[in-house]
Amino acid sequence: MTVSTRIVQVDSQMPQEQAIKLAAELLRQGRLVAFPTESVYGLGANALDAAAVGRIFAAKGRPANNPIIVHVLGEHEARELVDCWPWEARRLTSEFWPGPLSLILPRSARVPDAVTAGGPTVALRAPNHPVAMALLAAASLPIAAPSANLATHVSPTRAEHVWSDLAGQIDMILDGGPTPGGLESTVIDLTGEPRILRPGLITPAQIELVLGKAPLLPTSMTQAGVSHPEHGSGLSQPAVHSLETTPLRSPGMLARHYAPSVPLECTEPGSGRRVQELVEQGLRVAWLTLGPPNDNIPGADVIVMPLDAASYASRIYDVLRSLESTGVDRIVVETPPDDEAWLAIRDRLHRASTS
Ligand code: TXA
Ligand code: MG
Repeated sequence: MTVSTRIVQVDSQMPQEQAIKLAAELLRQGRLVAFPTESVYGLGANALDAAAVGRIFAAKGRPANNPIIVHVLGEHEARELVDCWPWEARRLTSEFWPGPLSLILPRSARVPDAVTAGGPTVALRAPNHPVAMALLAAASLPIAAPSANLATHVSPTRAEHVWSDLAGQIDMILDGGPTPGGLESTVIDLTGEPRILRPGLITPAQIELVLGKAPLLPTSMTQAGVSHPEHGSGLSQPAVHSLETTPLRSPGMLARHYAPSVPLECTEPGSGRRVQELVEQGLRVAWLTLGPPNDNIPGADVIVMPLDAASYASRIYDVLRSLESTGVDRIVVETPPDDEAWLAIRDRLHRASTS
């Protein structure tokens, strides 16, 4: 079924009340509204309305066993949706909320199965973006919101990205301009020893500083970096045959998530050899370098990426999406440094390069 999708521009710092009111009203009616957060655009529905949450899965083509993050204004709203609030949650939220950290906790009876994929836990975060916060306040509801892209596609950092994936499937897009963070939130499981399920904008070192102990990392990730996704999908998860029936512990850790439609590969830093090779094969190659390239390769489309991780993160999805629409044959990415600031970026690039 298609619906007509309204796109409404709002000021990213002081969103217009009328637009926010309309969006909140749609959410209360069980409709879908995409909105900017500080990480990426989310596709929101009333988290307490199972039918509305079901529409998110339909619009995205998301497998029903992949649970959705619930967005709240803060600790007070979060605690109504969980069964316990351990000291780690208290410390982490007082330091990082509102902000890009999603906590996994045992859910309370208020949370519908559709949100948690039938599982016993719920992911919660308080977004730090004036538009998201205004919407949460106006709707006075917890908002279930995955990234507002088609399942397995690159997350959207602009309203145009949401439009190109979901126009006709959702009721409204609040266009608050590009999202500042550019990568998704860090997902941390607090149901046992704190464990990062998905690296994101908040680093393990930041978390360690607050908890006084290092969070566990997904098993495929060492302190030094990220193993190649061909060797596994992150956690020891239910095998592929059970994907349709079992709620996944961290489905975002599946390989081939966050992928552009153009084949992408990562190469060793500082060398254009692979790019040269592909150009000689007659391919149109986009080469994402860290700072200006050492080699000059005529015919390659060089995109100079920022040298600091935060700026890189805020641009990478936008760059990948524009390369899809300009029609290159191959994207070659110079592998970023092997340190923690780049952990989430390396993770997403490796996933995007899984064939
Ligand atoms: O920054 C973000 O996190 C964005 C914005 C919109 O908030 N949202 C986002 O949602 O990236 P999504 O659905 O694209 O990714 C959420 C990840 C998925 O990997 C999902 O499987 C995992 O969080 N997740 C959600 N609920 C979970 C749960 N109860 N247990 C384990 N993992 C969960
Ligand atoms: Mg997503």
